[in-house]
Amino acid sequence: MHILVIHGPNLNLLGEREKDIYGNMTLEDLNLEITQYAWQKGIQVECFQSNHEGELIDFIHENRKNTNGIVINPGALTHYSYSLYDAIKGVNIPTVEVHLSDIHSREDFRKKSVTAPACIAQISGKGKMSYLEGVATLMKHLEST
Ligand code: DQA
Repeated sequence: MHILVIHGPNLNLLGEREKDIYGNMTLEDLNLEITQYAWQKGIQVECFQSNHEGELIDFIHENRKNTNGIVINPGALTHYSYSLYDAIKGVNIPTVEVHLSDIHSREDFRKKSVTAPACIAQISGKGKMSYLEGVATLMKHLEST
């Protein structure tokens, strides 16, 4: 089993950016935790981060034939990227949307996700656990199909 873990804009600044919201963990730490967690479950993980919408879409397209699932935190693209919605929908790979913070209890503009309807689940507000639960949710889904 192989999955992609994709991080969108500004997530490269984890550990520096708004620590009261996103915590102290760096993206490197987070990727290591996810990879180790998945490894124990027999899942191989490839992590990718970009600040550019098109690069995220290219990455999804390029890997569409060699992965079983996607865990994605689209960052702010969550709230307005119909291109990313189309990419997720278009490749037809089971995808779980995750967020470190609780997007439903923050500013109004964060409450809406345009990408979630292309995903099998959305997990929000659990810090790094959002990602780990995302992997577990994906695994359960893949095992049942
Ligand atoms: C985020 C929430 C988004 O609203 C925000 O733009 C981010 C991070 C999260 O993980 O909580 O960049 O996706």
